[in-house]
Amino acid sequence: MLDDILRLKKERNAVILAHNYQRAEVQDAADFTGDSLELARKATQVEADVIVFCGVYFMAETAAILNPAKTVLIPNPDAGCPMADMISAEQLRAMKAKHPGAKAICYVNSTAEVKAECDMCVTSGNAEKIMQTFAPNEEIIFVPDQHLGGHIASLLGRSYKLWPGYCPTHAMLTAAKIEEARKAHPGAVVMVHPECAADVRAIADQRLSTGGMCAFARESDATEFIVGTEIGILHRLRKENPGKNFYPVTERLVCPNMKKTTLESLRASLSEMKTRVNVQEEVAVRAKRAIDAMLAMK
Ligand code: 13P
Ligand code: SF4
Repeated sequence: MLDDILRLKKERNAVILAHNYQRAEVQDAADFTGDSLELARKATQVEADVIVFCGVYFMAETAAILNPAKTVLIPNPDAGCPMADMISAEQLRAMKAKHPGAKAICYVNSTAEVKAECDMCVTSGNAEKIMQTFAPNEEIIFVPDQHLGGHIASLLGRSYKLWPGYCPTHAMLTAAKIEEARKAHPGAVVMVHPECAADVRAIADQRLSTGGMCAFARESDATEFIVGTEIGILHRLRKENPGKNFYPVTERLVCPNMKKTTLESLRASLSEMKTRVNVQEEVAVRAKRAIDAMLAMK
């Protein structure tokens, strides 16, 4: 299977990008694995003609918006992100109409149509840095993740107009489960994703994007970590840190959409050049402004 994928990749002059939550074998077949921010940046640096994006739809869509001249493929177009679908462009326009003059900020986990309505896009890896550039009294609408928005607002001592979106996978993580994991592994550093609820974030030691978790685990002197995010990341953490131990809070923390991409669908994607991710030009041009504004921030 892997031989087929590598041969087809050469024939198509393609590059394979994979999110940190992908299946272990898909991560291993990829040229680059990263978090949403790293993958968006990588998508702007690719020289290949074709990008095969192993992740969820909004991620492939972001790569397509950034590369209108390239072919972007997603092996399984049904791999959506329920959080991204929790707000429509129409709902955001209604929210903006209620708060005229407010800046509209979207988490990258949003549709192209929602990004097209926004002034700026952020990821969990850069939200704090970007949001602190806004004046404290600036009125801010933050969509769709109430938890990432709430996390940044509390870090910066600000108050945002939040949309009540959330990640159903991270919603399975409770403070009680974290306490249980701490009891089982006393002394381990608890890392959670900012998509977790406020009480979970509060009792964790670190609140990090998936890329942030990889960097933290690499640089930390600690040798034991409790990982409060989708379990796909454990493959990369263990591979990159053979001398350290990583424990999931629960093995059940699985994003079903992230698991829809398999080696079989990756091979079929390259062999049949499917499924192409196309974003309507008028939407793509407006969404690109919000993504470019984010990527321009160092
Ligand atoms: P990261 O950008 O931290 O990889 O998060 C993406 C995501 O969908 C988390 O659920
Ligand atoms: Fe969306 Fe949650 Fe899956 Fe991330 S883990 S892609 S936010 S559903």
